[in-house]
Amino acid sequence: MALALGLAAAAQQRQTRQQPLKLPQVPLIRASTTLVDVPVLVLDKQGQPLESLSRDDFRAFNAVRIVACGTSWHAALAGKFMIERLARLPVDVDYASEYRYRDPIPDSSGLGLLITQSGETADTIAAQHELIAKGSKTLAICNVVGSAVTRLAEGVITTNAGPEIGVASTKAFTAQLTALFTLALYLAQVRGQITDRESLHLVNELSRIPAQIEEILRTVDETCHELARAFSTARDFLFLGRGIHYPIALEGALKLKEISYIHAEGYPAGEMKHGPNALIDETLPVVCIATQDPGDPSSVLKYEKTLSNIQEVTARGGRVIAIAIQGDTHIAQLVEHVIHIPQSHELLLPILEVIPLQLLAYHMAVRRGCDVDQPRNLAKSVTVE
Ligand code: AGP
Repeated sequence: MALALGLAAAAQQRQTRQQPLKLPQVPLIRASTTLVDVPVLVLDKQGQPLESLSRDDFRAFNAVRIVACGTSWHAALAGKFMIERLARLPVDVDYASEYRYRDPIPDSSGLGLLITQSGETADTIAAQHELIAKGSKTLAICNVVGSAVTRLAEGVITTNAGPEIGVASTKAFTAQLTALFTLALYLAQVRGQITDRESLHLVNELSRIPAQIEEILRTVDETCHELARAFSTARDFLFLGRGIHYPIALEGALKLKEISYIHAEGYPAGEMKHGPNALIDETLPVVCIATQDPGDPSSVLKYEKTLSNIQEVTARGGRVIAIAIQGDTHIAQLVEHVIHIPQSHELLLPILEVIPLQLLAYHMAVRRGCDVDQPRNLAKSVTVE
């Protein structure tokens, strides 16, 4: 049994650990300093550089509608923050399973963006048909070249994360976030919303991410293992975050549900007093994403608001596990457990924050004797509705 479990867990562990190796292969990271060559990495159906979605098209889009499912939907939510902030272009995010049933309003001047690891998710394919029928050009962020969604799309940004075997998506998610960040930066450039100097700064920050992920994998695994020992019998978990960190709270909760079968919810931290505070007692572990980019006043403000939310949880006996940046000594005085991650740009922190959450879910699942790679009732590709 132990051997079988160890083997079963192998793929998920391997793909979590592959993340820093795979990140540099996502669109950006050629030596380019201003990313002016990003569009050549948008490919057509034959894998050739795309011409039908030109720089002018990207400049002309007046909105982006992202459609996806599950973990890819969480990436989409984070992508909304990236695109709106950098490119100042409005973004709507839909569940693919909802989109086609709500008679969406046609928008031929917006970009339809599909995010999917497999490219074979039935709901996402159906939503893409709906987008195309309503006149949208579609672009796919996908890990499998030649899959159904990439065949239908006019352009594809391949995430190049390598085959993802475990049902729970891990490295594909961080690769999707990276692709979205790169796309947001490109849109910002073609729309004249960013200076070369700012672009260069963001590219430099992005290029630090692979080594930072390596560092997290090295430094937090043991802590996650210990946390699993302390909390593996919990019946429920809450994950909190604000702004772009909220989708990461959702993703942390999904990973835990999916592979350890513990009920978990992700919530925007500021919404706690509108209902979920009633759940808090000494049996409820609450994972709070309390990171900040000290160079960004809006990030610092969100961090301060999150600290207040944390205090509201601890005052009610809740047991807080905080994700914070290195050097934050203040937070350790407020909470029971802290996991430190390296500092990065506000829009890139999500890529780092999710790694400890993936490791926590993994250790919880192993501790509870669950099959990490093949959770019950789930399939890797959801090819039926
Ligand atoms: C995530 O861990 C899932 N197994 C699931 O939510 C997945 O992300 C979803 O089914 C969408 O799949 P796709 O990215 O292949 O379209």
